[in-house]
Amino acid sequence: MECTVAFGPLSEADRDAVAALIHRSLVQWYESRLRQGHRFGDQAAPFRIFPDVYEALDPGETITARASATGEILGVCFTHERPTHLAVGIVATAPESAGRGLAKRMLELALAQARRLGRPARLVSSLLNLDSFSLYNRLGFVPGALFQDLQLAVPAAGLPGPAPAGAESVREARPADATALADLEFSLQGIRRDKDLAFFLQPTAGAWRVLMLPGADGAPRGFLVTSTHPSALMIGPGVAADEAAATALLWATLDLLRGKSVVFLLPCAATDVVRAAYTWGARNVELHLAQSTAPVLSARGVVFPTFLPESG
Ligand SMILES: CC(C)(COP(=O)(O)OP(=O)(O)OC[C@H]1O[C@@H](n2cnc3c(N)ncnc32)[C@H](O)[C@@H]1OP(=O)(O)O)[C@@H](O)C(=O)NCCC(=O)NCCS
Repeated sequence: MECTVAFGPLSEADRDAVAALIHRSLVQWYESRLRQGHRFGDQAAPFRIFPDVYEALDPGETITARASATGEILGVCFTHERPTHLAVGIVATAPESAGRGLAKRMLELALAQARRLGRPARLVSSLLNLDSFSLYNRLGFVPGALFQDLQLAVPAAGLPGPAPAGAESVREARPADATALADLEFSLQGIRRDKDLAFFLQPTAGAWRVLMLPGADGAPRGFLVTSTHPSALMIGPGVAADEAAATALLWATLDLLRGKSVVFLLPCAATDVVRAAYTWGARNVELHLAQSTAPVLSARGVVFPTFLPESG
């Protein structure tokens, strides 16, 4: 089978097919294993945001697997080259091509790129999906922090209870803040994503909101990005120096989303932030695991991962 599959980049004309593939693979996998296919809706169109955002952010980096004879896209794997690491985003293969090694071959290409760069590869994988956990684990990814996915319908009147300390100091970040925010993430987590921050803070990008919490000296104690795009309302990425800063940033972000239902990931170890989210009405919907070929052992602070873009 593998000799009939070609691995290469994504063209503009492929984007609808990639959106359809991601949607179809997720619905099929979650429905057949967990009876949860409904989580991904009945339309593929919203999934177009993944190739659109990823090709705008990292043009030419997407890896596809396609049938040589017909050109049909059978698999996709998004990668994000950053100065400190190579991040791997969504990996999906056509349900009828499952188990043929397509995902493994795409990941081997990504790992070869990481080796060429001399940088670790990083990703966040679902703990409900043993197939993807095993795929990454067998290829050398080592489990790290555990995250819980929380869903919250933010009341139209705002979150219950008083605002946490520090929320009053949270402000919108400006393009000029990008380097300070990237420096903060590097100092806490050992990774750099200046490119992402510049992308989110472009005045024309529109769908992103970036909140930051300045400390007493004006230097940021944390930032939190939100995709407000109707296809992908999602909180993250973000990082905070401590749980108090993370709670203030999360509260201020949720306050922007009054009347909306949103999903966000919190480190299970960030118990104060998790407890605050429960008091606001959040419910666990899934568990995720950070995995890396070389975990940063000195990482500290509170991380908010995201699926758009999975560049951390
Ligand atoms: C997860 C997914 C990408 C796997 O794709 P695939 O093309 O079927 O995977 P492959 O055939 O390339 O490889 C799977 C590997 O995992 C291994 N594997 C699967 N389940 C395993 C288990 N329980 N224990 C050990 N290994 C396991 C397989 O043996 C294989 O490794 P091998 O070739 O060394 O034997 C696919 O099921 C999918 O698209 N799912 C829906 C989308 C999704 O959830 N993506 C991941 C999250 S972003």
